[in-house]
Amino acid sequence: APSIMTVSFTVNGQRQTLELDTRTTLLDALREHLKLTGSKKGCDHGQCGACTVIVDGRRINSCLSLAVMHEGDEVTTIEGLGTPEKLHPLQAAFVKHDGYQCGYCTPGQICSAKAVLDEIKAGVPSHVTADLNARIQFSEDELRERMSGNICRCGAYSNIVEAVAEVAGKSA
Ligand code: FES
Ligand code: FES
Repeated sequence: APSIMTVSFTVNGQRQTLELDTRTTLLDALREHLKLTGSKKGCDHGQCGACTVIVDGRRINSCLSLAVMHEGDEVTTIEGLGTPEKLHPLQAAFVKHDGYQCGYCTPGQICSAKAVLDEIKAGVPSHVTADLNARIQFSEDELRERMSGNICRCGAYSNIVEAVAEVAGKSA
């Protein structure tokens, strides 16, 4: 028999309390229980990044994480970053640089990019910069490396990197 647990966490600034089968992933809790369908299910196996959300400031693949493990956490999804009326700077840059085609990977790309910008600001090394000191300057190679967990089947990578690089430059 399924085992049910109560879990409370904050999603995009709103406290949510859910009764969930303990096997429910965070992705399914967001999409099916909270109707936040911006986060996408691509592979459901941690290999595409379409389900990327930000938990306590760090990006995770929500398909790989059980919802009940997030008691007390702060979760941010694409719906919490911007709205059609008030786009997040990354969303505006993706529009400007054509950083999507079908758009399926885009919410995950943007959540990942948001966390990447914060990682760079905080001096968290990437593989490319591992031997360097934390720095404000970064190359497109570094962005590609940091974004490598987010697959785009449409191959919009160069436009995605341009969009993120523009915002990175502004926010550095
Ligand atoms: Fe989570 Fe692909 S759906 S990584
Ligand atoms: Fe289609 Fe990236 S825009 S998968």
